[in-house]
Amino acid sequence: MKSAQQFWDKAASRYSRSPIKDEKSYQKKLEVTQQYFRPDWSVLEFGCGTGSTAIIHAPHVKHILATDVSSKMLEIAEQKARDAGVENASFQQGTLDSLELEPESFDAVLGLNILHLLEDVESAIARVNQLLKPGGVFVSNTALIAEMKFYWRLLIPIMQRLGLAPHVSVFSKQALVSMLSDAGFSIDYEWQPGSEWVYIVARKSA
Ligand SMILES: C[S@@+](CC[C@H](N)C(=O)[O-])C[C@H]1O[C@@H](n2cnc3c(N)ncnc32)[C@H](O)[C@@H]1O
Repeated sequence: MKSAQQFWDKAASRYSRSPIKDEKSYQKKLEVTQQYFRPDWSVLEFGCGTGSTAIIHAPHVKHILATDVSSKMLEIAEQKARDAGVENASFQQGTLDSLELEPESFDAVLGLNILHLLEDVESAIARVNQLLKPGGVFVSNTALIAEMKFYWRLLIPIMQRLGLAPHVSVFSKQALVSMLSDAGFSIDYEWQPGSEWVYIVARKSA
């Protein structure tokens, strides 16, 4: 985990300045996510990066706990939240494994642009299921490396050796859907802005 932390600490400042690649898709995903939210909800985000999405969602729920492995990402996120006057978001450094979180304590868990960066995707999904209240929702947006053009997939290990790319897990949409259903989720909403990405809202059984 140390190397993921180092990689993302180093990337934090550049990441915070990089524009959203597909603004229209981003807005659609925000909108769909917010249709699920209720004002009394407690939300966990893991891999929150520099906190932009947590800050946008915060006014729609009671509280968001935004977490990330990188303390540098979180420093930027905390400053952004202060600048935006957001008071119902808190930030904590750690991973789904290392954070001490109460089982069945969240109404929603957000994992945005993160599942494909984890080494053990199955256990992360199982942990999310454990943290959600019965009937709670897991909102994810994930790169499907298995669907990428072969030359990108050839480039990834080279970039990793040069320290220019993080660890990635390779899975297809079908594999992701199977992992979610094996962990006890049913798919409530699914949208693909293109073949290489999928946005899924999965519900834990009530
Ligand atoms: C591609 S960024 C996505 C950030 C944000 N969710 C977004 O959509 O802009 C991936 C984030 O996941 C964090 N990360 C990577 N591995 C992690 C892990 N095992 N646990 C928690 N966060 C992790 C990185 O520090 C980084 O902030």
